[in-house]
Amino acid sequence: MNKPKVFISRIIPEPALERIEAVCDAEVWTERLPPPRSVLLEKVVDKEGVITLLTDRVDDELLEAAGSSLKVVSNYAIGVDNVDVAAATARKILVCNTPDVLTETTADLTFALILGGARRVVEGVELVRKGDWLTWEPQLLLGQDVYGATLGVVGLGRIGAAVARRGAKGFGMRVVYLDPSASPAVEVELGARRSQSLAELLSEADVVSLHAPLTPETHHMLNDETIALMKPSAVLVNTARGPLIDTDALTRALQTRRIAFAGLDVTEPEPLPAEHPLVGLQNCMIVPHIGSASRATRRKMATMAAENMLSVLRGERPPHVVNPEVFI
Ligand code: DGY
Repeated sequence: MNKPKVFISRIIPEPALERIEAVCDAEVWTERLPPPRSVLLEKVVDKEGVITLLTDRVDDELLEAAGSSLKVVSNYAIGVDNVDVAAATARKILVCNTPDVLTETTADLTFALILGGARRVVEGVELVRKGDWLTWEPQLLLGQDVYGATLGVVGLGRIGAAVARRGAKGFGMRVVYLDPSASPAVEVELGARRSQSLAELLSEADVVSLHAPLTPETHHMLNDETIALMKPSAVLVNTARGPLIDTDALTRALQTRRIAFAGLDVTEPEPLPAEHPLVGLQNCMIVPHIGSASRATRRKMATMAAENMLSVLRGERPPHVVNPEVFI
């Protein structure tokens, strides 16, 4: 019997690839950079399944190029903003993602950015490397306490809640959150309070951490007007999606010290060119979208992406499907 043909748009951690290769006729893109668009459009032709990354745009053109054989797009990420889910649903193609396994790992990195920003860790490292550590100084690199501060969580999904938990339980922080739905369980567990508006949250929080999905409503939710509502001492952290923040507005706010610090795991554009003014600012720490990048978590994500795809190819319901309405 012919094995199903699949395309995997980058090398993903084992044992996922081995498992796929055992039962599929698999083609893997082995370069460091993503397949160029024209190549991607060729690679998906006649495939029954594809594993894609957040750097691959899966739109109607790609689904059309794949042809009627395509049954599943298994995204190696929790976020699916690179996938036109409605277009896939219209074609009865399942879209799958990798939730849960990356929650705590991403929350850990969020806290690294919060602490690194509030306590000026990168500036300290640079000072030591430059040989400018002359003595113990009473006023050297004074930052602000995270312990006991107010944490504003925008988007209280799985990752937002894990960050709130770290803040409340580990650092005695007062948690305020903004989310379309109230979370009474989290309110009871953490003593968190739901803000009535973004303006209210921004004006109260010492640390603002973004965890909302990227949608037309959340695009550039942090812009000149909203950043102006934040405390001058505020630390802004984004481990969700770059376009939640208007990059130019943030650059202006940091240059004029309108806010104290930004810690970014995601940017717009991504990657941000090394010569972009934001990159060189002392009060901005940018890391290259590594929120889920622990060995164990990336292995789990790969296994989950593989299992999502393989279960569809076996004719079963995949464990993590974004558009279950395809089954109706
Ligand atoms: C995701 O999964 O959406 C992250 O951005 C990458 O792990």
